[in-house]
Amino acid sequence: MSNIAVLGTQWGDEGKGKLTDLLTPAFDIVARFQGGHNAGHTVYVKGQKIILHLIPSGILHPNKLCLIGNGLVINPQAFLDEKATLEKIGVQIGDNLAISTNAHMILPYHTQVESLREENSRRKIGTTSRGIGPAYVDKVGRQGIKAGDLLNLSVLRDKIELNVEEKNIYLGYHGRALLDAQKVFDEYVEYASLLRDHIKDVSFLLHQEIKAGKSVLFEGAQGALLDIDHGTYPYVTSSNSTVGGICSGLGIGADKIDEVWGVVKAYTTRVGKGPFPTEALDEWGEYLRKQGQEFGATTGRPRRCGWFDTVLMEYSCRLNGVKKILLTKSDVLDGLKEIKVCIGYEYKGARLPSFPLESWILDEAKPVYKTVKGWHQKVSGSREFSELPQEFRDYLHLIEDLLEAEVALISTGVDRSETILREDVLRGLIDLDKVKAEL
Ligand code: GDP
Ligand code: IMO
Ligand code: MG
Repeated sequence: MSNIAVLGTQWGDEGKGKLTDLLTPAFDIVARFQGGHNAGHTVYVKGQKIILHLIPSGILHPNKLCLIGNGLVINPQAFLDEKATLEKIGVQIGDNLAISTNAHMILPYHTQVESLREENSRRKIGTTSRGIGPAYVDKVGRQGIKAGDLLNLSVLRDKIELNVEEKNIYLGYHGRALLDAQKVFDEYVEYASLLRDHIKDVSFLLHQEIKAGKSVLFEGAQGALLDIDHGTYPYVTSSNSTVGGICSGLGIGADKIDEVWGVVKAYTTRVGKGPFPTEALDEWGEYLRKQGQEFGATTGRPRRCGWFDTVLMEYSCRLNGVKKILLTKSDVLDGLKEIKVCIGYEYKGARLPSFPLESWILDEAKPVYKTVKGWHQKVSGSREFSELPQEFRDYLHLIEDLLEAEVALISTGVDRSETILREDVLRGLIDLDKVKAEL
């Protein structure tokens, strides 16, 4: 069976967690390749809400191998807390979870540096305050400390001393308390004993498994427009959330990715600062936030809400090579008489040919809307494609035509069971019977 990437196509929070959990039965392995505990992936199992941050959303299924690739940055305490929370509800975590030796770690100074930057800068990003950006800065700056360094305490000590010396100059300049390298070292020695068994050569392991015929679901975090290279820079996260991040973040070749599936919310949301052309600053934004329960799964912040944006979607489908669309939260639009869909951007009176890369153009781009009819019958609760209202199916066709990709799955609520699988589109790619058995 195929190896499939399930990626966010907007500004994150599209519903990747629900869909990864739902599709896991059809795969042997679920692998995260970038980001950290800035992610908040919500899964509902029999009415119980579970939020995954660092651990792949496949972990709730027994006998599936979950991988944390080298492309992630890991806060060891956050990992241990998440593991403990999962174990408390009966999830078994042992050999089924591996962390790459080459994954970088978040250290206490990363969170402190980030909060100082956000407080003092004239241009705030509105980060999740998890130390993600500064940890990636150290990785790229060749200062980072890897998970594998926990396995050699003299290397660990040396690297911590070097970093603490340097970070203390910055913290001292801002009048903050200085860090004690010994204390940081002692804390991380403790983590070494607790994490040791999970730390592995994930690239090698993944290759062995794929060679043995195992299939992989690559679980994205964040979304295409938050990608460090292709997103709305500087209002982005610090990793590659688009497809290229899979190869670099797990140590595998592009030939191992059979298809990319884009998770697409039926409207648009964004947490944090930055441009958002279709943001609805009127009562409709409030309506979507309320109906969609749009509050951050990691920070609890209210999400900014707006209309579906096909210009942005064309861009992210192109960046990722999206072949299938997994559409979520269309039930949130139930009951609306009319729905606005952005079909173009205008800048200084002229239509733009595609999503603009220049921030100053994007800042002033005006969305051009097409108004489509809402649906009378509810999408929420539908289980079969044939049950869906005609107006909704027209809406799906409009999306498919504009994005040149097929809608393969429609999520109609938070629960696993609230999902419509389009068997005609998915057959042959994954074992649908295994997915259906757990709905
Ligand atoms: P992720 O970061 O992409 O995994 O998404 P989040 O978990 O941060 O946010 C998605 C939210 O929408 C979660 O609260 C999900 O429970 C919820 N959700 C997912 N799919 C649907 C859907 O089809 N309908 C509704 N109403 N909620 C959904
Ligand atoms: P999931 O995986 C939505 C946003 C933050 C901020 C920017 C940079 O749940 O979709 P960071 O802490 O990463 O340096 O913050 O990115 N952000 C997310 N927004 N969903 C996420 O993850 C996000 N992870 C980061 O709000 O604007
Ligand atoms: Mg989220």
